[in-house]
Amino acid sequence: PLVSMKEMLIKAKNEGYAVGQFNINNLEFTQAILQAAEEEKSPVILGVSEGAGKYMGGFVAVVHMVKGLMESYKITVPVAIHLDHGSSFDKCKEAVDAGFTSVMIDASHHPFEENVKITKEVVEYAHANNVSVEAELGTVGGDEDGVIGGIIYANPEECKALVEQTAIDCLAPALGSVHGPYKGEPNLGFAEMEEISNLTDLPLVLHGGTGIPTKDIQRSISLGTAKINVNTENQIAATKVIREILENDKKVYDPRKYLGPAREAIKTTVIGKMREFGSSQKA
Ligand code: G3H
Ligand code: ZN
Repeated sequence: PLVSMKEMLIKAKNEGYAVGQFNINNLEFTQAILQAAEEEKSPVILGVSEGAGKYMGGFVAVVHMVKGLMESYKITVPVAIHLDHGSSFDKCKEAVDAGFTSVMIDASHHPFEENVKITKEVVEYAHANNVSVEAELGTVGGDEDGVIGGIIYANPEECKALVEQTAIDCLAPALGSVHGPYKGEPNLGFAEMEEISNLTDLPLVLHGGTGIPTKDIQRSISLGTAKINVNTENQIAATKVIREILENDKKVYDPRKYLGPAREAIKTTVIGKMREFGSSQKA
């Protein structure tokens, strides 16, 4: 069923695993991720960035595509459709109105008081529609659909204040993670993660899941991280397969001949992540 993230993440935190947010870019990504979740009996969050939403034809089209596939595939595991890095109240409202079950309001680049104010407005509207809300503090490094930033670590006291003042459902404190591939090993702020988890008592979210070593994933989960976002790794897996096929076969023209294998590569990658995050067999 289509659900919000709220119960999914509380259960994950209590039972010591993380639910993956896998971003969708098109039909094949959505198919692959839903199939992986059903096969693994895992809850799953479909992440939709504003750019990817636009690419797929808008939020309404996305919701219909997801619902259609869930019906065709007879999906029984919990699925959330989540706006990733929502840039404003209006974008979050548009997603809620289209049928998204979860939104992230990323007002982390605004001054703290402004972040609180915008986040609060989103929570009010979203919760009235049974939609969960994720907020962010600090800055995730790298670039995602034009969301560009150097790394700024979240401040634990601000995290506590934001949570108390807004009633969000989960918090993404930026603690050294990066969107896209890492240059060298990530340097995650585990001390801050533990402190923020204790201060807020909320499921934490780890952005930039691509390229984080398993030991860091496990440590993050043990410190209260209950949601991990992955996008680039699936994009790399899909494109690698397509590139190989096109290089080896100069005559191929039927898109299904390369998009089908790309879809399989995404599915394999997602299954691997679900096992690594411990969400398999938890639906
Ligand atoms: O919000 C989406 C994620 O943080 C994805 O990060 O592309 O580095 O896996 P990634
Ligand atoms: Zn992110």
